[in-house]
Amino acid sequence: MDVERLLKAVATPEKIRAFQRPLLRWLRRYGRNLPWRRTRDPYAILVSEFMLQQTQVATVIPYYDEWLRRFPDFASLARASENDVLRAWQGLGYYARARNLHATAKAVVHRRRGRFPRSIEQMQKLPGIGKYTAHAVASFAFNQSVPIVEANTARVLTRLFNLRKAIDSVAGRTTLWEHAASLLSKSNARIYNSALMDLGALVCIPRKPNCGICPVKKFCLAKNPKTLPVRKSRPRTTRLVEKHAFVVRQGKILLEQSSKRWRGMWILPPLKLDGLKPSNSQQRPLYTSVFPFTHHRATLQVFRHGAQEITNEQRRWFRIRSLDSVPIPSPHLRAITDLLGVPRLRGPGVRTPQSAG
Ligand code: ADE
Repeated sequence: MDVERLLKAVATPEKIRAFQRPLLRWLRRYGRNLPWRRTRDPYAILVSEFMLQQTQVATVIPYYDEWLRRFPDFASLARASENDVLRAWQGLGYYARARNLHATAKAVVHRRRGRFPRSIEQMQKLPGIGKYTAHAVASFAFNQSVPIVEANTARVLTRLFNLRKAIDSVAGRTTLWEHAASLLSKSNARIYNSALMDLGALVCIPRKPNCGICPVKKFCLAKNPKTLPVRKSRPRTTRLVEKHAFVVRQGKILLEQSSKRWRGMWILPPLKLDGLKPSNSQQRPLYTSVFPFTHHRATLQVFRHGAQEITNEQRRWFRIRSLDSVPIPSPHLRAITDLLGVPRLRGPGVRTPQSAG
């Protein structure tokens, strides 16, 4: 059966029900018990969706619980300082998400009198809210009958429809959203979208799909599901070496506020930029680690350095005892704790291998 025929075949309410029935039965039995599924609060659901962009569920859960304890609503988040917001996000990586969530909270409080919009179009005007996130909040918080396409549902749909277009191409994405919409019914998007997502996370998994236990196997057109989804070739990973200084004096450490990748967070001062250079006796790094960052593989090298450097607006001495309240990206925090010989300073969760610190 080709895709057009399948689309037509499932497009009637009866066919959609026939597809959804075994899927929803499966969800009741095997679905994941996730904290953001116990709420209809658009704020809490938005927080979960921001955190889940690029980060795995198991990593997100402790951050999500702690975040809602500290910032239970848009108003409390809007009042928080950027320092506290970045500190609470610390360890999840990709900090633009935290800055955007903060900006969205401020926009909701100051421009919308505290009310989060119900309209997808209005949601997408808020910082960091794209098509997927808007659709996720519309379906999970407001049960609007709208499709969602993220990594898990994209995998399920490409296999169900045997879609061989690259899912990171415009044409592929457009087709995916159309397929997702074609299987929706009018009244149960919240539960149905959760089911499709869980099927992707638990059964229709990358590389080794467990077709033998799939509740919608008889609807699946994939000939070779392992080979789906197709993606355009990835940009090659490039290597970076980043050299930073370890400067400590009388229980204090010199840190610099990043204006680049980790904007707003505090890092070990970079070497070779504006005058901080390793001297001859300090050529061997005290500490080396490797961490991934988008399409890079970065090597962090930390060199001991004398304490004579000037402080300026970006560079400040911090009491080592008080570092717990300072937002520091994970690769730098690990270097600091290692070099100071102190145990892990904090962090509600465990890093994902792909998170950027
Ligand atoms: N990934 C993105 N959004 C998600 C959600 N709401 N539940 C589980 N995984 C997700």
